[in-house]
Amino acid sequence: MSSKLISQVIFLILVLLCCTEYTNGKLIMQGSSGFVKGFRTLTSTKKHAYGQAFHDEILQFKNSNGTMTSFSVTFFFVIVPEHKHKGSHGMAFVISPTRGITNASADQYLGIFNEANNGNTSNHIFAVELDINKDDEFGDINDNHVGININGMRSIVSAPAGYYDQEGHFRNLSLISGNLLRLTILYSHKDTQINVTLSSPEEAYYPTKPLLSLSQDLSPYFLDKMYAGFSASTGSVGAMHYMWIWFINGYITIPDLDLGIPTFPPYPITKTKAALIVLVTALALALFAALVASALSFFFYKRHMKVMEVLEEWEIECGPHRFAYKELFKATNGFKQLLGKGGFGQVEEVRPDMATVVKILDGVSELPNNLLDIVRTEKLGRWYETYGNVLDVEVTMESGGDLTVTEPLTSVGR
Ligand SMILES: *[C@@H]1O[C@H](CO)[C@@H](O)[C@H](O)[C@H]1NC(C)=O
Ligand SMILES: *[C@@H]1O[C@H](CO)[C@@H](O)[C@H](O)[C@H]1NC(C)=O
Ligand SMILES: *[C@@H]1O[C@H](CO)[C@@H](O)[C@H](O)[C@H]1NC(C)=O
Ligand SMILES: *[C@@H]1O[C@H](CO)[C@@H](O)[C@H](O)[C@H]1NC(C)=O
Ligand SMILES: *[C@@H]1O[C@H](CO)[C@@H](O)[C@H](O)[C@H]1NC(C)=O
Repeated sequence: MSSKLISQVIFLILVLLCCTEYTNGKLIMQGSSGFVKGFRTLTSTKKHAYGQAFHDEILQFKNSNGTMTSFSVTFFFVIVPEHKHKGSHGMAFVISPTRGITNASADQYLGIFNEANNGNTSNHIFAVELDINKDDEFGDINDNHVGININGMRSIVSAPAGYYDQEGHFRNLSLISGNLLRLTILYSHKDTQINVTLSSPEEAYYPTKPLLSLSQDLSPYFLDKMYAGFSASTGSVGAMHYMWIWFINGYITIPDLDLGIPTFPPYPITKTKAALIVLVTALALALFAALVASALSFFFYKRHMKVMEVLEEWEIECGPHRFAYKELFKATNGFKQLLGKGGFGQVEEVRPDMATVVKILDGVSELPNNLLDIVRTEKLGRWYETYGNVLDVEVTMESGGDLTVTEPLTSVGR
């Protein structure tokens, strides 16, 4: 067991102790919720699914004479999306008559409501949503907002995620940044007002002006005793909704975080995704190889065309010429030497006279070393016209680079 793992385990124990200490109870996990590397997450990599974590004990929200109590909730969370800059559906703090919500829908319903009960006053559900998807059917303002919902997915008030700084200027916060965020919900019974504040615990400053402030008496919507918890859902795109530490009190308080901020795990790579990555990489490599191959063949084709262009007419007329491109190319150093010297003047100088040619043809004399150079010249073309109709030569270059005549100059029609 590595020391890193041991410290992680110790940290996890501390976190668990810390939560139970403050909430005096534990969270009951349902649906997709579970732990990833010791961190509680409401959702898994499962798509179109929802997960919940509800406090196991029922909480008293009304006194014996039916008066609603004030309450405050603070929780720390991290949303790690599957795709950067693209949200899944989001999460919510929920107060519900039941411990967990069965028969809810995933996707845009966040695991709180379904199509049938959405908006029904008999739901008795209060929620503060952290919505990372813009659902026009619920009048969502954008794909990164905080909203207060009662009995349905259509928020009573909502605002883009962010906070007001000391100067009162609004500052954006991204819910899917993967950074730890803090949400505080205060309900003052005296003021019949709900304040919701989003903030970054990494900043020492706690916003004094809330993000959302709703004047609303909650007593008609609340039962005497209700359960509190969290819900989150995924759609076609996934996200991990880490629910770290939370506090709930029957009075107004804003607790401080006296723990260091841990690093939350990245979005897990699923088996199918890993296979997909391998496949895509292989395809990309294959495509790259194909591109390189076609570029190379195009290059050689162009070079070949360049050579073709300097082929003499006689070569074409006389059917298949026996000088392989490669041989000629090599023998003449890519024709650069000749072309560089201009006008084939040099070739003309060493052109064998007729007597020599006859000797060659009779096998008495050796072929001149620069035969290929000569072959290429227009003059030899003319010479060929005169003498060469029956001349059938095959010249190859051996590995040593010496020019040899493999097929003897068979017959000479003179
Ligand atoms: C209800 O009970 C609380 C204490 O439990 C008390 O403070 C409050 O005044 C009562 N309200 C009414 C209307 O009786
Ligand atoms: C479950 O929800 C569906 C709508 O999503 C609804 O039609 C159905 O009646 C519900 N079932 C129960 C038992 O509540
Ligand atoms: C609201 O829900 C209750 C109980 O589930 C049901 O009887 C009632 O018909 C619903 N109302 C509407 C408008 O759907
Ligand atoms: C906040 O984000 C919105 C869009 O996401 C952008 O239009 C606006 O300029 C941003 N404001 C600040 C202060 O960054
Ligand atoms: C809620 O916010 C308003 C300002 O928008 C403030 O006047 C009020 O005191 C706040 N209430 C609580 C309980 O913090």
